[in-house]
Amino acid sequence: MPATLPHPVPDLCHTAPPLVVRRLLVDLATPLPRHWNGGDAFRTALFNALSMSFPVGEQFFIDAVRAGLAALPAEQRARFQAEVRGFVGQEATHRHVHDRFNAHLQRQGLVDHWSPRIARRLVRVKTLNVRAWLGVTAATEHFTAILAEHLLRQPAQLAGAEPRLQAMWLWHASEEAEHRSTAFDLYRTLGGNERWRLRLFYIVSWHFCTDLLRQTLHNLWRDGSWRQPGTWLQGWRCLFGRQGLVPALWAPWHDYRRADFHPAQRENAEALQWLARHADCYTPVQQPAG
Ligand SMILES: [Fe+2]
Ligand SMILES: [Fe+2]
Repeated sequence: MPATLPHPVPDLCHTAPPLVVRRLLVDLATPLPRHWNGGDAFRTALFNALSMSFPVGEQFFIDAVRAGLAALPAEQRARFQAEVRGFVGQEATHRHVHDRFNAHLQRQGLVDHWSPRIARRLVRVKTLNVRAWLGVTAATEHFTAILAEHLLRQPAQLAGAEPRLQAMWLWHASEEAEHRSTAFDLYRTLGGNERWRLRLFYIVSWHFCTDLLRQTLHNLWRDGSWRQPGTWLQGWRCLFGRQGLVPALWAPWHDYRRADFHPAQRENAEALQWLARHADCYTPVQQPAG
């Protein structure tokens, strides 16, 4: 992977507020209804699939940004230190919460085939340069950030879900929108180039979409919903309907391909609003200095 950028490094000094780590205060002990997402089997299966991928994926993001920070020259390290600490704290909290959520899915008889596949791929990624780790992380963070933005703007995807589960997903979504720039900025600061940024984005996009679909279908098969014709109508609505994922995410997905793209160019207002209106759902955690 070449070390130089084909165009100037963008201004990385955007004034983002410091990343706050928040402990979620919602009840994750009470078992989940089988179709917890508004009684919609397809939407439930899709969000369950996403949740299955988070613990292993987010541990990799943590490893990538930590390795990226360690690879920076001392003068640049100081600028990223607090941001990386916040990023790691947020992702570690997400892992913990989704581990608890996923334990319910396991008890319901669902089987996670996605995260072992991710783990096998990441063994190969970890043999590469740290810029590749960060390129994979930045690309995946773009996916989580645009999905987060959609969930915060359009209530349809979580319509009818129990309030505690809506809170869990929207808390996670808000923090994904908050830390969307960290891996991208580290990639650029370490000299990651455009060619590899896009190449890794296409690879991540292929794996993310096909794995999400495979695990969703597998979840529907395990719970028997695939036999109901209504499930496929729900699937069509969820993916291609008026507030469906494909039309909503198509343009933001393309944004990442622009040479002048930066994650901070996208609006973050919904995330800030959600966090301000739902302060009773979490408590900020004091981060250790250093
Ligand atoms: Fe996360
Ligand atoms: Fe993230």
